[in-house]
Amino acid sequence: MFKRRHLIGIEDLKREEIDHILDTADSMLEVSTRNVKKVPALRGKTVVNLFFENSTRTRISFELAAKRLSADLLNFSGSSSSLSKGETFRDTVQNIEAMHPDIFVIRHAASGSAQYLSSFTKYSVVNAGDGAHEHPTQALLDALTIRQKKGSLDGLKVTIVGDVLHSRVARSNIFLLRNYNTRITLSGPVPLVPEEFKELGVEVEYDLDKALEGSDIVMMLRIQRERLSGIFFPSLREYRKYYQMTPERMKRADKNALLLHPGPINRGVELMKEVADGEQSVILDQVTNGVAVRMAVLYLISGGTNELDH
Ligand code: CP
Repeated sequence: MFKRRHLIGIEDLKREEIDHILDTADSMLEVSTRNVKKVPALRGKTVVNLFFENSTRTRISFELAAKRLSADLLNFSGSSSSLSKGETFRDTVQNIEAMHPDIFVIRHAASGSAQYLSSFTKYSVVNAGDGAHEHPTQALLDALTIRQKKGSLDGLKVTIVGDVLHSRVARSNIFLLRNYNTRITLSGPVPLVPEEFKELGVEVEYDLDKALEGSDIVMMLRIQRERLSGIFFPSLREYRKYYQMTPERMKRADKNALLLHPGPINRGVELMKEVADGEQSVILDQVTNGVAVRMAVLYLISGGTNELDH
């Protein structure tokens, strides 16, 4: 069973816990296909979406997840809050705490913000992406998508391509996939894929064509322009030449390989539209699975004891 009060990252989760979240998410998928897409599992609970950084997929899917579990949901957006009048992060959260929520879902540009929040709040904290640190529910929804399509997470060759340095998605995926019998290869420009990543138990191959050979899973990343603090590659033209996923490049991977991207996509930069919208792309399946994974996480964090069907 899942005994944690918070979900801050994947790094310290055991394989059994990951499997349990994915199995629970499998049950949640069915709820979203019913005519009445609602179960009473979190009736009486209040979830607060604390979004200090922009989001489309994560914010909306946490909102849908909470509502489908019958929780009450509050959306807080940093840009329209009293932060602009000088209120601190801690004061902001403590004022919301005074209204007695149950779960905080937090996205913030600062790495460590979810951990910091969990250090002083008495309520549960779910990390919805903190800086370049972790994005645990993204890795879980990626894993659910891979497991659905491939039957298992074991025995796969996974290639992660692009701005790994600034990617919380890459980190969380590496932490998750290394619990399984996977071979993970990172590829991208040298400054965005430092050799130090090998310490996480992955391979680094700067020649994308070589990295793709025999890959079962190709995970493309966006260049995180909002986190770039210097010049990491000479030009977008050069980036496209060496690291853009084209239909030709995709043929280097296994013929049944899946193409994943966490979104938002920069069409024409890391992905050509023929690949983004192609038959191997499971990008929209990832989005669908995001709701189920977030339902599972909210449910399990809350104790996961209520029946889903009454
Ligand atoms: N994948 C992801 O986190 O997307 P958003 O930034 O739109 O939430």
